Formats: sequence, C-alpha cells, structure tokens
Amino acid sequence: MQVNLREPWRIGAVEIPTRLVLAPMAGVSVQAFRRQGRRYGAGLVCSEMVSCSGIHYGNERTLGYLRIAEDERPLAVQIFGSEPAFMAEAASTVVAAGADIVDVNFGCPVRKVTKTGAGATLLDQPDRACRIVSAVADAVSVPVTVKMRRGLENGSRTCLDLGPRLADAGAQSLTLHPRSARQMYTGQADHDLTAELVELVDVPVVASGDVVSHAVAAAVLEHTGAAAVMVGRAAQGNPWTLSEIVDGEEPTPSRADVAAELILFVRETVNELGEQRAASFLKKFYGWYLRRGRFPRPFVQELVRLDSTELVIQRLLVAEPRAAEALARLEAEAPGIEGTLVPLPISAYGGG
Ligand SMILES: Cc1cc2nc3c(=O)[nH]c(=O)nc-3n(C[C@H](O)[C@H](O)[C@H](O)COP(=O)(O)O)c2cc1C
Repeated sequence: MQVNLREPWRIGAVEIPTRLVLAPMAGVSVQAFRRQGRRYGAGLVCSEMVSCSGIHYGNERTLGYLRIAEDERPLAVQIFGSEPAFMAEAASTVVAAGADIVDVNFGCPVRKVTKTGAGATLLDQPDRACRIVSAVADAVSVPVTVKMRRGLENGSRTCLDLGPRLADAGAQSLTLHPRSARQMYTGQADHDLTAELVELVDVPVVASGDVVSHAVAAAVLEHTGAAAVMVGRAAQGNPWTLSEIVDGEEPTPSRADVAAELILFVRETVNELGEQRAASFLKKFYGWYLRRGRFPRPFVQELVRLDSTELVIQRLLVAEPRAAEALARLEAEAPGIEGTLVPLPISAYGGG
C-alpha cells in the first residue's frame, strides 16, 4: 500500500500539512530545531516540555521557552505539571504566547519530573490525569492534546484504559510512545499497542517511537491506522532524514550543506539562548551533524573544545569554504527570526 505523508490532516480546527510531527525533546527542541523541522517537511512541531509551575512563578528560563516565531506554526507547546489549576493557567499563557495547540505531558519518565507527580506518574492516576485534561481544555479555545507512554511498568497496557478517558475529558489527539516509563529508551516501541489505541478512540492518534525512515513510517501508519508519525532522535543533527521520511527520497547533503545547516543552527540558537548557554547546549549537536562519515571524528572533538560559537563557525568555514555560499542560500530562503517573533504578553524573555 502507498502511504502519502504529504496528505494534510487536522487536530480540531488546526490543519497540519504533512503526516510527520517533530517530537518534543527536552534539551533539543529549541526554536532553531523546530524551524528547521518545518523547512524539511514536519507538518507540526512541538516545544520541549515546559513546567507549569515555572510559568506560574514567572521563572525567566521557563518563559524563555515561549518564544514562538510565526514560521514555526502550526506549533504545539507542551506543558507538564500535576495540579489541574496550574496546568490550566499555564495553558492560557502558552496560548497567549502563540501556541496553536497545547500538549500535555503524561510520558516523561525522568525522576526529577515523576517525583513531583507529573509526567508518566499520571498514567497511574487516571482521575487526576482526566481532571488535568478537562481543566486545560476548559481554559483554552485551541485544541488540547496528550502525549503518553504505554504505562509505568514493562508490558503495561494502561494507555488503552486511559486513552479513551482522556479523549472523553477533552483531548483532541493522543500521541503514544509505546514504551513503558521503566524502559526509558531501551527495547522497541510496541506499535501493536498503537494500533489497539487507534481502534479505541475517535480522535487522531500519533505514533511515536523508532520511526527512522520512510519505509518504517509507511509501515507504522499502515499497521496502526495512526494519523501521523512522530520523529525524534532520528532528526537530531539530521534534518535530511525528515525529507526522506516524508517523500521517500534520500537526499545526500554535501559537506557544505551540512556545515551550512549547522552554522545557521548555531547562529539561531545563540540568538535564542545567548552565547553562554548556547555554547554548552550546542556541543552535542556538533557530533550529531558532523559524524555519520561526514567529517572526521578529531574535527568534531576540536569543535567541542573551542571556547566560543564564533570560533566554531570560523573553524567550520575554514574546513569547508563552500559552506559560505550554501549558508547565504539558506539565509535567503529562511530569513532570520527578527520580525517573525509573536509578541509575548509577558514582560520578561528568559533565555538571554
Ligand atoms: C533527549 C530527549 C528528550 C525528550 N524530551 C521529551 C519531552 O520534553 N516531552 C516528551 O513528551 N517527550 C520527550 N522525549 C520523547 C520523544 O518525544 C519521543 O517520544 C521518543 O524519543 C521516541 O521517539 P524516537 O524514537 O523518534 O526518538 C524526549 C526524547 C529524547 C531522546
């Protein structure tokens, strides 16, 4: 069967132009990542999870996650927390900041989050989970969605009980990453469970986990009946894989293309986070972009040791002078974010 990932679909009134969603990833899903994802074929992008208490207390770094550019849209902002009233308040704030969709995190397995009663913990507290979704849905007029894991323990089927209840409580789409919280990222995503969930609910389901190619995406969509696939780790430092997943054609970027995308990513991230935070945040991206046989390993190690992002950019341009031309082309196609920021109703932009 031919599966067309360029077929638009909807979550509530929000039209999503392709059946590929870029995954929310803490420590990865900065604005540069999301904008790049849209350029390479993601129909919907998502912020990393944002703490509802951080929003409530006006934490500067938390508010910094709410910078949204016009060309990222449609965009979901994901919030996490355990108190329905705080979650409702956070939802209103993220919508005022420009989110087209509010996504609620019931999947984060990390202890720092679960010990506060948020994230995956809520999979085992269905009443509270439903109260959160219904409070959030009452607070905003945009669609509310939920992202969840299969359950807390290996082999759990909790998501199949909880999913329909969340849809009844107001979730207009469910994303399932069918691993348990205990599994973290080990083993395989069990998309048989995704297929079962699709049968149980009337809202669109998004399949997350281990989608790394067009062939896998098509197989998952066909097997599960999901509305879309979500792609996370495969897109780290490799936006070309998103094009391949959507269109089935393997683009082979030249070294100049790779260096140019990385330089653009570095510049935009510095713009968003400020030099100090960006310099350490970006280090993991150098390997993600440049390995895969594209540049020698010692070169990556050299970049990681450099003190400033400006030195990194200079070094890349020396190693691959043709990147300057590729970069100029990219910048012409994807103008800078100045002028595209949605004005925030909050006075402090964190993250600088
Ligand atoms: C570094 C990292 C950070 C993540 N952060 C989030 C997050 O903030 N919210 C969320 O719902 N899922 C988060 N996830 C899970 C992903 O969204 C996705 O469900 C998971 O990685 C499986 O998809 P993949 O195999 O395509 O990577 C994260 C995953 C990774 C690897």
